[in-house]
Amino acid sequence: MAEVELSNISKTFEGAPRPVLTDISFTVKDTEFVSLLGPSGCGKTTLLRIIAGLEDQTSGKVAIGALDMNRVAPRDRDMAFVFQNYALYPHFSVEDNISLGLRLRKVDKAEITARVKTTTEMLGLEALLERKPRALSGGQRQRVALARALVRNPKVFLLDEPLSNLDAKLRDKTRGELRLLFKKVNGTVIYVTHDQIEAMTMSDKIVILQEGKIQQVGTPSEIYEKPANIFVATFIGMPQMNILQKKEMTAMGYALSGPEAGLSDLTCGIRPEDLEVSAAPREGWLEAAVDLCEPTGALTTLTLSAGGTALRCSTTLKWPLAQTRAWFTFKREHMHFFSTAEGTRL
Ligand SMILES: Nc1ncnc2c1ncn2[C@@H]1O[C@H](COP(=O)(O)OP(=O)(O)O)[C@@H](O)[C@H]1O
Ligand SMILES: [Mg+2]
Repeated sequence: MAEVELSNISKTFEGAPRPVLTDISFTVKDTEFVSLLGPSGCGKTTLLRIIAGLEDQTSGKVAIGALDMNRVAPRDRDMAFVFQNYALYPHFSVEDNISLGLRLRKVDKAEITARVKTTTEMLGLEALLERKPRALSGGQRQRVALARALVRNPKVFLLDEPLSNLDAKLRDKTRGELRLLFKKVNGTVIYVTHDQIEAMTMSDKIVILQEGKIQQVGTPSEIYEKPANIFVATFIGMPQMNILQKKEMTAMGYALSGPEAGLSDLTCGIRPEDLEVSAAPREGWLEAAVDLCEPTGALTTLTLSAGGTALRCSTTLKWPLAQTRAWFTFKREHMHFFSTAEGTRL
């Protein structure tokens, strides 16, 4: 069993005024794909390095399969780390880069040959085995780094933004491939990314971090449908959720109904796809100016302005470019409500 359990991990670097990580606890189940998602600088790499044993936590515990890792050296933790910059050995061939970890661990020669063969075939690297890393494209290097991790058949894979050096198209394609690959090998994966699309599309579970603190842990749909606070609500989803104060809604002419209407400490959230929009007036709908129309093919994003507040709306309508007025309404049942003071979901 390769269950990873983090309990109350905190980290303050020596001489630093503030902790980089505060009280991090979550569990990664055997064969689960978990993403650590958050903006740059929120502590993702530090946390991954602590899990790998490359960095010491200030307090808290890392356990794998119920075994406390605190006294286990990195090389004995049976985890494979794929670094953001891949960290390939420049003077080694692709084959040697891939097999090095097994050779260092004194794995039987025939076994090494067999495992390298399976892994390189799986990743389509057979033709590149003799090459040096500098003679590879970014995408090929990324595959070699991945092969080096896979060939070890570790208990846990740790990946630090493995797609961030690829161009957008390749990133798109590789996302799905990685997901399938790790399912195929029944891998337990902790995947660091700042990219919400990667986290949403690849993960069984997402851990959202901000400034070293967990904001929410949940499946992609739980996080999308029930964001725990305004940070998560606006971090996940493109274009981002509209955040409206009560007085802004009033200025638009929108009268909030239901139990929330009476609350004074209230911020409303509404996703762009939960605004209904029309190019012609509709009974009971509100009027807005269209400040910007951004067609992307299947979806068009409109930036509306109503009562002095900007609102973004995604629609499948083919919006007439010359149309500068719009009528809209909110899907009431899809509204999110937060405490303005705390930022937390009500
Ligand atoms: N060795 C270190 N010494 C001091 N501060 C560090 C060190 N490594 C990272 N930090 C700081 O910790 C914070 C989190 O960094 P990091 O874990 O790399 O974030 P992320 O991977 O989410 O971008 C940053 O403010 C960074 O400057
Ligand atoms: Mg990082």
